[in-house]
Amino acid sequence: MAESMKGLKRSHRCTEVSNQLVGSEVTVMGWVQKSRNKGGIIFTDLRDRSGILQIIFEEANVGAEAYAKAEKLRSEFVIAVTGKVAKRGGAFNENLKTGDIEIIASDIRVLSESDVPPFPIEENSKTKEELRLKYRYLDLRRPDLQRNLMMRSKVATLTRTFLAEEGFVEIETPTLCKSTPEGARDYLVPSRVHPGNFYALPQSPQIYKQLLMCSGYDRYFQIARCYRDEDLRADRQPEFTQIDMELSFVDVDDVIDVNERLLAKLFKDTIGVDVELPIQRMTYKEAMDRFGSDKPDLRFGMELKDVTEVVSDCEFVVFKGAIEAGGSVRGINAKGQGAMPRKKIDALVDFAKGYGAKGLAYIAIGEDGSIKSSFAKFMKEEEMTALISAMEGENGDLLLFAADKTKLVYDVLGALRVELASQLGLLDKNVYKFVWITEFPLLEWNEDMNRFQAMHHPFTMPMEEDLQYIDTDPGKVRAKAYDIVLNGTEIGGGSVRIHQNDIQEKMFKALGFSMEAAYEQFGFLLNAFKYGVPPHAGLAYGLDRLIMLMAKEDSIRDVIAFPKVKDASCLMSDAPNVVDPKQLEELFLDIVKTAQVDATEE
Ligand code: AMO
Ligand code: AMP
Repeated sequence: MAESMKGLKRSHRCTEVSNQLVGSEVTVMGWVQKSRNKGGIIFTDLRDRSGILQIIFEEANVGAEAYAKAEKLRSEFVIAVTGKVAKRGGAFNENLKTGDIEIIASDIRVLSESDVPPFPIEENSKTKEELRLKYRYLDLRRPDLQRNLMMRSKVATLTRTFLAEEGFVEIETPTLCKSTPEGARDYLVPSRVHPGNFYALPQSPQIYKQLLMCSGYDRYFQIARCYRDEDLRADRQPEFTQIDMELSFVDVDDVIDVNERLLAKLFKDTIGVDVELPIQRMTYKEAMDRFGSDKPDLRFGMELKDVTEVVSDCEFVVFKGAIEAGGSVRGINAKGQGAMPRKKIDALVDFAKGYGAKGLAYIAIGEDGSIKSSFAKFMKEEEMTALISAMEGENGDLLLFAADKTKLVYDVLGALRVELASQLGLLDKNVYKFVWITEFPLLEWNEDMNRFQAMHHPFTMPMEEDLQYIDTDPGKVRAKAYDIVLNGTEIGGGSVRIHQNDIQEKMFKALGFSMEAAYEQFGFLLNAFKYGVPPHAGLAYGLDRLIMLMAKEDSIRDVIAFPKVKDASCLMSDAPNVVDPKQLEELFLDIVKTAQVDATEE
């Protein structure tokens, strides 16, 4: 039976009741974590979002009727309890904030009962994630997820306060937008009023925030939902949230300065971590050369070494072939791993193949200096010695090499470096290593489209000193773009924008766009620029990723209230779903069935 709250008022959350209140009467409300009947005395753990508080029911104190109610309590019943705060009669519970007190109940109301939940509501749940996501509203009762979401709320509040104090104006931008094919795949929304026409959900507020700079708002921010139809990974969701900002009359250093102070504030005030300022900066080129990645994890070393020169004359076809084809040979030194069993090395080779490598050559140096290697037989002894020395190989080390096109070598060794660090327990979640990556290439070659593509977006400003190459050698041009990377995750990125028409035209030309095509897609922005545009720059954080790292979680699903799974569906609501044919008719849409749709329906 569910009782009402009439005449009752909650006086405290569970863990707001402290030993300073001993002797006073309180009223607490929440969920029954567990209830144990010890014959004549019932111990109930009451839980709310603040934590757990122990309640004692004895017939002498609550009376027969209330005691009978207490006897029926089961996990997840919602109750209100009035009683006196007392020092614990039994042993203190050091694991609880309220471990030294309890409530001697004088009254109870059962506000609602609960079926047996499909899994226990507890910290560090061992229940499979699929089941927890199906019952996400129960999963969200667990203390770990509650902490994460409350941390997220705190970060959002701190961000708003900080940016407002820095002169930023919070402005909302549309989520029904024009589709612009540059970038990731859009989520489309059909228009009923304009049959056959579609809105796109925004991949980011990029164009709007630049327009707001044209409109003179000077400093804008928004905590904005973004949508990208791309393959999901642990740190990607189809809809995610950005802390998005744009500033007028600034250059790279101004954006970096305000953001370093924002990051320092967020980390100090939410998790007590001091971020050392200024944050280290590294060029894209240096990051690729040393770490094989534009989001290097700086918590550990194991840097890449270029040994192309050292092996340039050897007869090992794998190395020779790669060098002759214009590629390179690079390696990493897994210190002290020389005794790694063959099976484990083979697993690393397979891992490398997963990143497109044709293989992974290795030298395992024994503690006694003996050598096991997959390619020693193709090498002269002095060549091996030179190679080991170039890798700073010592007794007990494992040297791993990839030979291929340089971009692939970076990908393979960059990923392998992190995989090894993970296996060796070097990824300490309590350590926070920030780095700005700067001087990104402006453009990257897209093999499929056979043309250049903007690495960041088409409005990113080239570096002044590289502008001279934009017509003749666009691949060489670096951009005034920057990413902020934390522990190997890109938590944010941005750039100085182009505000000069002639440079924008050159950029579109390099991207293979005619000006007509550019106007077709981005005309409203290009036109706005004709009426007085301030130089401007900005940045956006992935809020979910930021919270994931602050909360020391491995997946952004653990910091999003209602996340989607790998195939972009929601296990709780079953979205996306088939809609009523009438709805389709109103939208003038027909579903052309594909084999795949049929297969999933069966
Ligand atoms: P960018 O595309 O780099 O830049 O996005 C900014 C940040 O958003 C996060 N992010 C994601 N998080 C979760 N799931 C996703 N699918 C996802 N995609 C991106 C990342 C990333 O660093 N408009 C520009 C910013 C600017 O130039 O001001 C932009 O959107 O943490
Ligand atoms: P193979 O002669 O093909 O057996 O190769 C000898 C060794 O070189 C094996 O350990 C392979 O895994 C390794 N190998 C093959 N291709 C590459 C490559 N592109 N880069 C590095 N090592 C490779």
